[in-house]
Amino acid sequence: MTTDPDTLRTDWTARIAEAGDASALEALRVAALGKAGEVTALLKTMGSLSPEERQERGPKIHALREAVSGAIFAKKDQLNSAELDRRLATERVDLSLPSRETPRGSVHPVNQVMDELTEIFADLGFAVAEGPEIEDDWHNFTALNIPETHPARAMHDTFYVAGSGDPMVLRTHTSPVQIRTMQSQPPPIRIIAPGRVYRSDSDATHTPMFHQIEGLVIDKGIHMGHLKWTLETFLKAFFERDDIVLRLRPSYFPFTEPSAEVDVGWSIEKGRRVVGGSEGWMEVLGSGMVHPRVIAACGLDPDEWQGFAFGTGVDRLAMLKYGMDDLRAFFDGDLRWMKHYGFRFLDVPTLSGGVGA
Ligand code: PHE
Repeated sequence: MTTDPDTLRTDWTARIAEAGDASALEALRVAALGKAGEVTALLKTMGSLSPEERQERGPKIHALREAVSGAIFAKKDQLNSAELDRRLATERVDLSLPSRETPRGSVHPVNQVMDELTEIFADLGFAVAEGPEIEDDWHNFTALNIPETHPARAMHDTFYVAGSGDPMVLRTHTSPVQIRTMQSQPPPIRIIAPGRVYRSDSDATHTPMFHQIEGLVIDKGIHMGHLKWTLETFLKAFFERDDIVLRLRPSYFPFTEPSAEVDVGWSIEKGRRVVGGSEGWMEVLGSGMVHPRVIAACGLDPDEWQGFAFGTGVDRLAMLKYGMDDLRAFFDGDLRWMKHYGFRFLDVPTLSGGVGA
């Protein structure tokens, strides 16, 4: 076996370069630089060399050790990056693939119905408008022709919000969005305003928070015929039936004149009460021609501009269409209820695909 440092250097660096994996490389390291390693043994001979020999062989032996440990280090690096490349190539994950798990969330019937209504009214040229849920007294009441002494204020079971400054309320209906819209954009106006409203009331058909959708049209020459056609078209699209019959009953709202409550006809099908036909009637909407005082309160000339407005409960529409009977369950957050009545979030309501999901 040679002890010539230069020969050993060539031998070891060649063997190291050929190491196939990390464990082969580690075995070579031990054989060369370990306690009983060949290079270590050579280093140990240094002490017994004569000064002349040490001068000649010393630097070669040190160079040998440097070369071997350098080669091991470089090879380790090379093996590591080869291993990384291999893993990157074999463990690739295509993040563009859809999840293989069934999506678990679902769309709440209230959101579903709001989306359906938005889709129907967008097709009729209505935009969606919004307003604050904490509303000032003026927008919620006064501008809607409900002065302070008006009994309608008591009828609404209003939640008042404590604080200094203007009296604030949790809006009792979506009608204040009529006012905000007329104040912020010039007519002609065609909007719907879906959202949460609040009244201090609770039983099987009333919850302190519920949802309404408001409709408002302001233009020239608008009359009750436009109102009736719009409601009929909307209800036919919503219930997906052509035999929807409406009955407009004279009624009273401070902000409309004349006012009409709208009943929709129902009939019995397979023992169930369904919307359509006219065996009986149920109330679904409040509506009317926007009161000239309301138009004037928004800074418009009521001799020039007329319009109609309507409002209805979104939760109630959902119950009628999808057959739930207890409103309180809507807001219990019970996952079993959501699983049963919820909608797949990938099924977006469209008029062409059927808004009914
Ligand atoms: N704001 C009324 C309510 O909450 C509904 C309504 C809206 C009536 C618009 C007429 C016109 O009962």
